[in-house]
Amino acid sequence: MSTSVSEVYQHNKTFDPSTYTESYLSLSDRAEPFAKDLLLFRLQQLHQFYITTGPMLSGCRILEYGGGPGHIYPLISAAPFASEIVFAEYAEQNRKVAEQWKSYSSETPEMTALLEHVVRMLENNTAKNAVQERAMKLRSLISQILPCDINQEVALRDCTLPFDIVSTHLCLTAATSSVEQYVLNLRKLARLLRPGGMIVMTEPIGGTFYLVGSQRLPDLYVSSTEVVRESLLQAGFTDVSIKTLKVRPTEVTDHVEYAFCTAVLDSV
Ligand SMILES: C[S@@+](CC[C@H](N)C(=O)[O-])C[C@H]1O[C@@H](n2cnc3c(N)ncnc32)[C@H](O)[C@@H]1O
Repeated sequence: MSTSVSEVYQHNKTFDPSTYTESYLSLSDRAEPFAKDLLLFRLQQLHQFYITTGPMLSGCRILEYGGGPGHIYPLISAAPFASEIVFAEYAEQNRKVAEQWKSYSSETPEMTALLEHVVRMLENNTAKNAVQERAMKLRSLISQILPCDINQEVALRDCTLPFDIVSTHLCLTAATSSVEQYVLNLRKLARLLRPGGMIVMTEPIGGTFYLVGSQRLPDLYVSSTEVVRESLLQAGFTDVSIKTLKVRPTEVTDHVEYAFCTAVLDSV
């Protein structure tokens, strides 16, 4: 059973994948200016995370949870270190975009720009076919595209557990209506990880909504990064690291900060 907070994601009318992608997952000038800064921040943080932690997790299994409309930006930096990626998403229309991306061999302009930014700018890889090869590798690493619902008792079914990394960005606060539930939902993600496995996530702070086109979607109000840190600890994580990007509230969203967090699932 879905809770009402997630129902808005089930329809194209309230969460249109193309509108979301244009506004929030694009490096083009049509993207919201703060969203572009946020995307660059996440790509940079993900790059840092995977080049420092990736070699220790070489051959890791990664779960992208609540991955959205298939623009698998969090996985571009992960691909060199992964042996398998499972992409889980709540909304059917978003899973369709991910399936289309996996089965096509060509890129959208948005995805090409993201791949180029990571491979050329962040990794400084000048090899002629490096961008196309990364895209091909990503496609081959994605073994399953599955439905998921964090508000169910079991957050993900029909795949092999555990994962070494759970990656989830701007998802939990979109799907959760209280801080108590937020901790419970983090625990559900912890159950998908092996002891010592890691969670990598981006969480919006200090806001209550964001717009997708003219649709206003609710977000859980998280008053500070300390709430995220405390929630991760309560959910059984340790070694919490948080990097932040401050933003000005706009008519598009009232978030004031974004937290890029990593944490290790306690092994005791
Ligand atoms: C703001 S979007 C973030 C999408 C993507 N992760 C990104 O970084 O752009 C919120 C995501 O949470 C997903 N979501 C909403 N309710 C959910 C639920 N109950 N369980 C899991 N994911 C959910 C939505 O389908 C959507 O993909």
